Amino acid sequence: MTLPTIHQYAVIGNPVEHSLSPFIHTAFGAQTKQPIEYIRLFSELGKFNETLETFIRSGALGANITVPFKMEAFQRCDHLSERARIAGAVNTLSFQQQNEQLFITGDNTDGIGLVRDIKDNQKQAISQKNILILGAGGAVRGVIFPLLACKPEQIVIANRTAEKAQQLASTFAAYGPITGCGFDQVPECAFDIVINGTSASLSGAIPEINPEIVQSAFCYDMAYAKEPTAFLQWATQANARVTVDGLGMLVEQAAEAFFIWEGVFPNTQSVIGELRD
Ligand code: ATR
Repeated sequence: MTLPTIHQYAVIGNPVEHSLSPFIHTAFGAQTKQPIEYIRLFSELGKFNETLETFIRSGALGANITVPFKMEAFQRCDHLSERARIAGAVNTLSFQQQNEQLFITGDNTDGIGLVRDIKDNQKQAISQKNILILGAGGAVRGVIFPLLACKPEQIVIANRTAEKAQQLASTFAAYGPITGCGFDQVPECAFDIVINGTSASLSGAIPEINPEIVQSAFCYDMAYAKEPTAFLQWATQANARVTVDGLGMLVEQAAEAFFIWEGVFPNTQSVIGELRD
């Protein structure tokens, strides 16, 4: 297949206007001298497939998918990477035309983005560590398999609705040591890493867990904001060892998507630095 002169990509979501992905990918393109153009594409709820088809017909090569379409996009794929299949959701689509037929391949780069940010950027080991994840929604689902692949001592998923945590843990039990519980049943062991994957931060709320649990832990919020998130402010007060937001994860998941599409791995540090500034 001959590639077009301009490689066109988009992030498709609802809402999508605040997405930093166009800035990140445009920076990657400039840095690696790849001829990419990356836009925000708003899709109405229930119209995801139409939005996607129109974008593909315009000659696009791929798309990132954000809330709330990651599962719909998963359904639409002709091929899936192993990590996407296990996550049950995709955030990266690649479009290929073969013999006049369109093939959509789906991948999920969220988990590898989180792992790279924790290990490479924050220099925190995951192997043999006790990890607590707060939340059991779509965002958490996407990161469990890559975390388990790093061979932690154990992962405990704690959620406001305990059954959802237990259900999620049983889905992933074949891939490593993982259990689920409610916020008030978190086992009393010293957690090395505590990851907030609830959407509570977005509304300024804090998961109702005992502050002693995060004492001396590396605390990571998968969300990010200009100011420290409510969870990170709370963790700092509770004497967490380190507090980090999800901006690095955002850039790392984008870098993996860029690599899938363009075959070049961009420098993420400089882009994280630009965004922090
Ligand atoms: P996402 O795609 O962001 O993961 P989601 O699938 O709707 O969104 O999941 C949201 C997660 O945040 C859930 O784990 C939810 O807990 P419940 O399963 O009990 O609903 C959690 N959550 C949302 N608001 C919260 C709050 N104020 N306190 C604690 N957990 C909260």
